[in-house]
Amino acid sequence: MLKLGVLASGRGSNFQAIIDEIEKKKLQASVELLITDNPDAYAIERAKKHNIRHLYINPKESASRDDFFKKIADELKSKGVELVILAGFMRVVKKPLIDAFPNRIMNIHPALLPAFPGLHGQKQAVDYGAKISGCTVHFVDEGMDTGPVIIQAAVPVLPDDTEDTLSERILSFEHKIFPEAIRLFSEGRLEVKGRKVLIKDYPAISSNIVNPPYRA
Ligand code: GRF
Repeated sequence: MLKLGVLASGRGSNFQAIIDEIEKKKLQASVELLITDNPDAYAIERAKKHNIRHLYINPKESASRDDFFKKIADELKSKGVELVILAGFMRVVKKPLIDAFPNRIMNIHPALLPAFPGLHGQKQAVDYGAKISGCTVHFVDEGMDTGPVIIQAAVPVLPDDTEDTLSERILSFEHKIFPEAIRLFSEGRLEVKGRKVLIKDYPAISSNIVNPPYRA
């Protein structure tokens, strides 16, 4: 059973989607630990409700950003975590955590990378006038939303969309593709070759580019 560690800063709806898939036994994994950088993150309530261990680490109590991420890495390692999930974690991850989990940290971003990286990907898409946006699950490297792409899902941007309406449409796909990417990892089906993530035995119709056919 794949041991997950989840990092979240806020609402934690992606965290919840992962918990739900695990509880439905569609994802063979366990969440060993939730770490937050925010004592008021609603994700903590979700952890409590599902008897998941949780820990708040105050970034201000670390001497440096590297030190903060070293603490996180140590906590995750001590719980035997094999894959780290950034579920709305609002910080750029630093080297001590990346080196501790090479190609073993996944992030979800609310845009089709490399378009609209950074904060407010949905607002960026609306303001730009894009007709299609979506979400991306990718492995994390030291850049801002730059690591190898695992799965993307595309959604239309409608003429009267606001940041909120587009965010909601994208979020429903985030909740599908994030657990799906974790499932592929848990089945040993992801291979990182340079910038490319190869997915073993995935349906041929370039299905990992647009709205992949999720397993029911
Ligand atoms: C999501 O839109 C995700 O793409 C972004 O932060 C948001 C987190 O939402 N990285 P939630 O906390 O999972 O509800």
